[in-house]
Amino acid sequence: METIQSIASSLLADGKGVLAADQSAGTIGRQMEAIDVEPSAENRRRYRELLFTTPDIEKYVSGVILHDSTIRNTASDGIAFVDLLLGKGIVPIIKVDKGTVEHQGFPGEVVTQGLDDLGERVEEYYSMGARAAKWRAVFNIGKDYPTDANIELDCLTLARYAAIAQSHNMVPIVEPEVIFKGGHDLARAEEVTTRVQTVLFEKLNEQRVDLTGIILKSNFVLAGSEYPEQTNAEDVAVTTIRTFKEAVPEALPGIVFLSGGQTPERSTANLNAVSKINEGLPWKLTFSFSRGLEKPAQEAWRGDDTNKAKAQRALAERLRLNSLALRGEYNEEME
Ligand code: 13P
Repeated sequence: METIQSIASSLLADGKGVLAADQSAGTIGRQMEAIDVEPSAENRRRYRELLFTTPDIEKYVSGVILHDSTIRNTASDGIAFVDLLLGKGIVPIIKVDKGTVEHQGFPGEVVTQGLDDLGERVEEYYSMGARAAKWRAVFNIGKDYPTDANIELDCLTLARYAAIAQSHNMVPIVEPEVIFKGGHDLARAEEVTTRVQTVLFEKLNEQRVDLTGIILKSNFVLAGSEYPEQTNAEDVAVTTIRTFKEAVPEALPGIVFLSGGQTPERSTANLNAVSKINEGLPWKLTFSFSRGLEKPAQEAWRGDDTNKAKAQRALAERLRLNSLALRGEYNEEME
């Protein structure tokens, strides 16, 4: 029987990870402008088709996170994207948050919206074939934030979303993203990530969420993008695992990583280092990158279908390297 536990375990299958292809129209539009492609709905559809029809994608990808507009969309031959993925044994995952707005009274901080009609939306997505849902909360690091009030509010919202998703037999992928951009050092990133994840699990427990049927989507713990001394992969791994040991209950089946604006190479190197020291820990760990997987494919494609095979090879190569990283077998000479 299909349970949230069995779906979570297929998402965390050995050697596989999740492709986060759920950029909003605004985000993917900016990515398209960067490769001189008109950010139209049809170009977004063509691009997603290119990704999902990559030969052998199912060897490395257990699930794909989709945006609302994509779950309703079809490939050029008329097959629904959801059915295309299901046909390859890939779990369709739906992004269900409605993005962030300013947290009034808390300069520099944001809150995520989308709870009001969530039950109805999740029910519809389930009927379309989705079996997991993702919700992203955003925590910026500044001198005076994140504040306790912001962390409490966003984590309670994440817990409420997770409870609603589970009540519709969907696996919640719970994403409290501590943002990489900024001038903070490694210790500050660790302190904030530990605090956020600790509060998150308090709220998940309070809201009676079944921890055996959720997946945590975490940032790697690393110094901010503008901090002069960037964290090497070994230190990222030690700090990230220390954070999980402090904050994440053993009952959880697994943790997936976002790439957060790091280069694809650095994301893979960090995944490799984390995998190497994950032995004996209770959680399966894997990737759930967007930019870390898609950037080379976008650059190879540039909107031109004669580049389609080249772009698909670029995606498949990134997936292969990340799959090797899950066994600690990646090194930079492979790039
Ligand atoms: P990045 O890997 O580009 O950070 O995106 C992952 C994601 O799903 C953000 O919500």
